[in-house]
Amino acid sequence: MSEADRLNAILASRAPALARTLSPLGRALAFPRGIPFQAGEARKARLNGTIGQVTDGAGNPLPLPVLAEAAGGLDPKVSFLYAPQPGHPEVRELWAARQRGLAGGATAPCTLPFATHGLTHGLAMAADLFVDADTTVIVPEPSWENYELVFTLRTGARTASYAFFDGEGFNLDGLSRTLEGVQGKAVVVLNFPSNPTGYAPTPAEADAIAARLAAHTGPLVVIVDDAYQGVVFEEGRLDHSLYWRIAAAVDPERTVVLKVDGATKELLLFPSRVGFLAANLVDAEAEAVWTNKLNALVRGTLGGPPGPSLALMLAGLRQPDRLQAEIDARREELAVRYRTLRDALAALDNPRLRPWPFNSAYFALVGLADGLDPDVIRQRLIAERSVGLIAIPEVNALRVAFCSTTPQALGEIVQHLDEVVASA
Ligand SMILES: Cc1ncc(COP(=O)(O)O)c(C=O)c1O
Repeated sequence: MSEADRLNAILASRAPALARTLSPLGRALAFPRGIPFQAGEARKARLNGTIGQVTDGAGNPLPLPVLAEAAGGLDPKVSFLYAPQPGHPEVRELWAARQRGLAGGATAPCTLPFATHGLTHGLAMAADLFVDADTTVIVPEPSWENYELVFTLRTGARTASYAFFDGEGFNLDGLSRTLEGVQGKAVVVLNFPSNPTGYAPTPAEADAIAARLAAHTGPLVVIVDDAYQGVVFEEGRLDHSLYWRIAAAVDPERTVVLKVDGATKELLLFPSRVGFLAANLVDAEAEAVWTNKLNALVRGTLGGPPGPSLALMLAGLRQPDRLQAEIDARREELAVRYRTLRDALAALDNPRLRPWPFNSAYFALVGLADGLDPDVIRQRLIAERSVGLIAIPEVNALRVAFCSTTPQALGEIVQHLDEVVASA
């Protein structure tokens, strides 16, 4: 029996939902008993001649002084030595505690987060593990454009989409109907607060989403993309991950739920390339198999996690109260921008512009009247007004990223948009 067969047999008895939904690549993955594996076993050995990195012989790095100086107060062992594939254990533990804490001490099952190279990589790993040409990936329209590259281009999967909004709220029936129409395995991708809509659901909507997913009987993987977790500007909106509600509602023997999150937006560490992937496994042996398969996937692609970024995160995570206070202060600055844009859009009196509902994340969508081409308007805004926005042609709208502009600039942007559309 091959190592992969052995691992899959464990999953079949300990995590049947995972066993049922893995892609052929996911089934084939098994971490070889190679260098990282053997070095891991020898980690505590007194005389360690296993791994290809330069140390002082006692487990300490020997960085170049010019780099060590620049790394300042970062933990040199984390910055300058290889970490195991899943990431430095302390970072993983602290991140796990932070995630549960943000959800008020959530207790639903969740594996120890596995470090990825940013959220994109976490999503791509999920695609590798669960998506193949026989899978239907369900995303709302509009959703983050990169889902197309991540989930379909590389895998050949089918996509099915539904309109994001039903009136002023999330289109729960659209999601349900699309899911019911799938023959075979479905992968549902959810992202709240959403890019590009800037929409976070109410807690009641969140409960309803979880209940609908829990009622589904076919093979199902739910991927919760938490990129903008907690960036919510209105009362009465879900201000933490939807993962916990879904993981608490579904039967883990039937449905796989994945949590993809990371430092990118949550810690405003945009180019860190640190994200995390976790799943709703309830069994320790199944979690070991899961980690083994992820180890193999990372070992065969990116090699391992980025030390300096993990060290930077660790510096923050070791001071959780200060970290959160500083995140909150930045969110207050963002809230001013949000309110400025919300009010400027509400004051618009242009029948050819229709602002969409928004309450969170970094973005707002402004719909254009039929006959207007968002890409033409976008290009005119650059050429005539020196204003940069993003065109979302699928829904005939423009996306305003209020996160990267000042409140004053937002007023000007809305005015330019209004004038250019009026003259189109
Ligand atoms: C919804 C969503 N998911 C994932 C990502 C990717 O994050 P990262 O830069 O960590 O890969 C983004 C970035 O814009 C995003 O908007």
